[in-house]
Amino acid sequence: MSTDVTSETLHPNLLLARQGAVHELRIDRQDKLGALNFEIMEVLGRYIEELASDDTCRVLIITGTGKGFVAGADIDGYHGATQAQFDGFQRRSRKTFDALAALPQITICAVNGYALGGGLELALCCDFILVAERAKLGLPEIKLGLLPGGGGTQRLPKLVGAMRAKELLLTGRMMSAQEAVAYGAALEMHPGDDLLPRARELAATLADQAPVALAEGKRIIDDGLESSRAAGLTFEQRVLGGLYATDDGKEGIAAFIEKRDPKWSGK
Ligand code: COA
Repeated sequence: MSTDVTSETLHPNLLLARQGAVHELRIDRQDKLGALNFEIMEVLGRYIEELASDDTCRVLIITGTGKGFVAGADIDGYHGATQAQFDGFQRRSRKTFDALAALPQITICAVNGYALGGGLELALCCDFILVAERAKLGLPEIKLGLLPGGGGTQRLPKLVGAMRAKELLLTGRMMSAQEAVAYGAALEMHPGDDLLPRARELAATLADQAPVALAEGKRIIDDGLESSRAAGLTFEQRVLGGLYATDDGKEGIAAFIEKRDPKWSGK
């Protein structure tokens, strides 16, 4: 992987670093524990929408700063907002989260601290969730007399099952990092200092795979979860046949026979 890192400030609270095929996006709003207001959500959404057609990036890491990853929607913005403003924020959030879940790139969420409400919903749109030992995750909207609106009611049960999701959603209880792993809501837990290095290591391993197989592997599982088994199995064979026809499919097989590392072209 190229070692050159380029950094960009997308918004005062959104910092992007690019290194080779890996993007690392940091939410940095420590005074509000990473809470997302309309403006941040919009800039985040625009970045994600543009990323979808950026074939130089194959893996995106999203993380936060300090003791908060994202403590949800910015509740200050909810206070006194008109119904139209409130609904507009929910529509913007949904667009941003749906775009994230649909990215062809592999996404890793490194949850450094509180991931609550929209913070957990953001993480749930990623392919992998890694958590720091001190992280706490939950959907506490019910404590405000509300419920989640960024996909939490639909994506959380897929990972943890309906009963556990209802317990978390209806009580507003936060999961510890350990519970999140045990419930299947996170892949791994790490001491805080090891979280980002581990996310980067996973990102590098993923970015080293054959690019088309990598993206298709994600799509085949995500689409399969939304379709019948028969349709999923048919799709799986069609994708495999297509991969066999790619240059990288031929290169991978040749490299194995010749006992050398493959050189992927992404074709
Ligand atoms: N929106 C706006 N501000 C938030 C926020 C949110 N979702 N979450 C935290 N903050 C702010 C706090 O108001 C506080 O600001 P202040 O210093 O100006 O008073 C600052 O972040 C630090 O939070 P604080 O509550 O003092 O930290 P804590 O360690 O005592 O508690 C939490 C941490 C996460 C348990 C608590 O902040 C909380 O419950 N936040 C709301 C979570 C939530 O309901 N999210 C869903 C929103 S729909």
